[in-house]
Amino acid sequence: MSAIKKCLFPAAGYGTRFLPATKAMPKEMLPIVTKPLIQYGVEEAMSAGLTGMAIVTGRGKRAIEDHFDISYELEHQIAGSSKEALLDDTRKIIEECTFTYTRQVEMKGLGHAILVGGELIGNEPFAVILADDYCVNEGGDTVLAQMVKLYEKYQCSIVAIEEVPEDEVYKYGVIEGEEEEPGVYRLSNMVEKPPVEEAPSNLAIIGRYILTPDIHDRIRSTPPGKNGEMQITDALMAQAKEGQVIGYRFKGRRFDCGSVEGFIEATNYTYQQQNS
Ligand code: UTP
Repeated sequence: MSAIKKCLFPAAGYGTRFLPATKAMPKEMLPIVTKPLIQYGVEEAMSAGLTGMAIVTGRGKRAIEDHFDISYELEHQIAGSSKEALLDDTRKIIEECTFTYTRQVEMKGLGHAILVGGELIGNEPFAVILADDYCVNEGGDTVLAQMVKLYEKYQCSIVAIEEVPEDEVYKYGVIEGEEEEPGVYRLSNMVEKPPVEEAPSNLAIIGRYILTPDIHDRIRSTPPGKNGEMQITDALMAQAKEGQVIGYRFKGRRFDCGSVEGFIEATNYTYQQQNS
């Protein structure tokens, strides 16, 4: 049995890049073909053996809670028809997982969202999925399953990293570290959204993390960073200074579904996969 049982989903952001679609609907409910982004995230967590889903929501996000609940009227309506199978995946999730929710009242950044969500996690290592980073790995282990396996060996925080074009490093947290084994880096430093000339590498942190429970105190004790927001990078940096963060170049492909272009790419890719 893995030590990691819970997955935190920070899902309180406004999703302004998708306005007006996200005016009254959470970004996490945008569908890639017919399944909402957050459902792919939950299924990835399940594939890694996790069953406790802790979701940090905000105002206007109730559709997420309704999605992971039974809809008796709808079930009754489609019972016995060819459409019944369309809800098989959500039924499985509802049967096998438990969901807990809390609200982030003010959007003070990802670090703050993780701190708020910490109340749902307790004193144990946990995974974090940013559902707008949609990850696929055809046939192999999912990205989070790969990371949970790696945690068994390293027993410290792990961030998923990906090589990005140099002119895009300014959008990400970027790592510096020593490669200990192929694709596995012991991090010494991280820089949040650096200009290209200050970036220590072009290896960017994407939305999959495994965090050890000391992260909560580290977030509390780091002063707010850029734009007064609490970034998770700052707290991770404190762990990295003690050699306690691994960067893992995962196997698979990531789509940045927080951007319109990435979302369209993911939609086309998934539609083609489903119909090939
Ligand atoms: P983003 O910055 O990509 O999401 O945050 P956003 O703010 O919703 O998007 P735009 O830029 O306005 O379009 C990355 C992830 O962190 C969560 C978001 O929901 C998203 O999943 N987040 C961010 C929070 O939960 N709380 C915050 O205060 C900030």
